[in-house]
Amino acid sequence: MKMSRKYFTEIPSPCFVHEENKLLNNLKILDYVRKKAQVQILVALKGYAFWYYFPLIKKYLDGASASSLFEAKLINEEMGVKAHTYCPAYLDEEFDEIAKLSKHLTFNSIAQWEKYNKRIPTGTSCGLRINPEYSEIEVALYDPAIRGSRLGIVRAMMPENLPLGIEGLLFHVMCEQDSYVLENVLEQVQTKFHHYLLQAKWLNMGGGHWITDDNYNVEHLIALLNNFHIRYPHLIIILEPGEAIGLDSGFLLTTVQDIVENNGIKTAILDVSFSAHMPDTLEMPYKPIVRDASIDPANKPYSYRLGGITCLAGDFMDEYGFDEPLKCGDQLIIDDMINYTMVKTTLFNGVKHPHIGILDIDNKFKLLRSIPYEHYKYRLS
Ligand SMILES: Cc1ncc(COP(=O)(O)O)c(C=O)c1O
Repeated sequence: MKMSRKYFTEIPSPCFVHEENKLLNNLKILDYVRKKAQVQILVALKGYAFWYYFPLIKKYLDGASASSLFEAKLINEEMGVKAHTYCPAYLDEEFDEIAKLSKHLTFNSIAQWEKYNKRIPTGTSCGLRINPEYSEIEVALYDPAIRGSRLGIVRAMMPENLPLGIEGLLFHVMCEQDSYVLENVLEQVQTKFHHYLLQAKWLNMGGGHWITDDNYNVEHLIALLNNFHIRYPHLIIILEPGEAIGLDSGFLLTTVQDIVENNGIKTAILDVSFSAHMPDTLEMPYKPIVRDASIDPANKPYSYRLGGITCLAGDFMDEYGFDEPLKCGDQLIIDDMINYTMVKTTLFNGVKHPHIGILDIDNKFKLLRSIPYEHYKYRLS
């Protein structure tokens, strides 16, 4: 009998595995941009919160951005710096704590600013999120500039001048995009908000900058930011990507548990769930890369759907092509599964959460965490 295909014998399945060499490579690219363009780059925790590496990240970036009290706490605890925080709305009972943990505090509306502006601790710089009403994002779920969006203040709702005490502006209207899109966005921001840019001390250009992608033109970004600086030399420029930090720097290891067939369609049932562990694959949706498999099943002799371990009917990916038939016990490597996975996983169906580990600089596996039953039980009552 043929042996099961194994990529790794030392890694328990299922497991999110972050690869340090690849992370380091991303951090070096971001550090290069920071220095050449004289901008600050933060990691946005909403996309990447692999805090084991916060001490390493701190050596290359300028800190981290938070969108909630818990994220701000994690930044303070594990990176040892105050957060750059923006929430669509601050909660009254959390405000004083989150403000204390934040270096920058950005408000989503004038009403929120007016509610809290007497409670700002000294040393915290406040800003407003603006909405340029321009984006090139095609998926509505990810488009903060869409008509009627709740995110940021549109030009028509801005006061005549920045309120006394507001020192910064933030916009975020990009998603997995390049510096040519940023160039168009900046055109719009300058056209609509020039007068406010002159009054501000800092401008946070949000996330969605795919700086570490192989096709990203880093030199164009640097030139664009340097030119922007010439126009607004007084502004501190901040970028806060999430995805770019962990892009292509790890995978989800999974093992085939069963093969079922229905009307000629074969499904390999895995020990992971697309719904619970890789929700973006269903929400966006997109088909992730699986190592040694073809996204197009027509290219290979054997094809299988990949099925999740929950009972949700739609918890599967359409067919992939393989060179050999799949068998129970075969490992599959689902690539690029560090961003927007661990931060979004659920314990839906009570299915086992993948372990979390790393391949260190010498490619040695280290298990960091296994998620016990209590995490499931005590999110419920
Ligand atoms: C305000 C803000 N900043 C930064 C980010 C990070 O974006 P990305 O992970 O796409 O770089 C997001 C993502 O939604 C965001 O809403």
